[in-house]
Amino acid sequence: MLEPLVLRLGAWLISPPVRFSRFGYRLRALFGPQHGEDVLDAAVMLLAVNGVRGDVAEFGVFEGRSLLHLWHAHRWVEHLIVDDVVPILRGANPACLQRRYYGFDSFEGLPPHDEVLEGQPGWMAQGAFAATQEGVRLALRRSGVPDGDAVLVPGWFDATLTPESAPESIALAHIDCDLYASTKVVLEFLAPRLVDGAIVVFDDWWLYRGRPDRGEQRAFAEFRAEHPELRFVELLRSTTVSFLVHRDDR
Ligand SMILES: C[S@@+](CC[C@H](N)C(=O)[O-])C[C@H]1O[C@@H](n2cnc3c(N)ncnc32)[C@H](O)[C@@H]1O
Repeated sequence: MLEPLVLRLGAWLISPPVRFSRFGYRLRALFGPQHGEDVLDAAVMLLAVNGVRGDVAEFGVFEGRSLLHLWHAHRWVEHLIVDDVVPILRGANPACLQRRYYGFDSFEGLPPHDEVLEGQPGWMAQGAFAATQEGVRLALRRSGVPDGDAVLVPGWFDATLTPESAPESIALAHIDCDLYASTKVVLEFLAPRLVDGAIVVFDDWWLYRGRPDRGEQRAFAEFRAEHPELRFVELLRSTTVSFLVHRDDR
């Protein structure tokens, strides 16, 4: 009785007139995957499969959407392990998913820069993505993230990402800071900290019309040439791009 009704409702919801209506777009915005979340989910899952220990570090927090997602993605994979529903996770140790979640951001938005390509929209301007630490803490708390799990580090990367700064071991790095100059600083910070099997996600890989001589792509190409001790294997390519890290020096 109920099943045919649900199936008819489903068929109606996915029919093009509904899917591409304003209502459909709103539904998708509410329930569909947000930009880059597929790549983050796959990364968290793979780290569990490989038993990779270390912390999560996000560079570019804004209002905390992706930091919050990363925390929940870890809890989701923990459930999958404990409930034994995914064969590839069988035998994985949920304890290896105990991480701290570091969020680095100026909280003043983007620094001054001249990286915008002609015709690119105004959101890349200095000060875009300004947010408050308090707002992010509140969002994290409201969604159930314990206070001790997340560490917000306010300030410009060249001041906060020093050789002494925590964390020491990074399993998952989410680079979401838009700019070449910012990504350069982030990658140098990561070099000694990425553990073998770590995953690096570039959120803004396709900005600047996907040009390899701009933004995150340029910074990463230079970094790879300067750090032969780190080898990168491309993992997933979606609206964002991720790489697995192999290191031969430890
Ligand atoms: C696109 S937003 C991050 C979006 C966020 N991950 C989310 O889930 O909504 C980019 C962020 O990078 C930060 N940022 C860029 N360059 C920076 C720098 N050099 N130092 C500190 N923060 C920087 C900006 O403040 C901004 O909040």
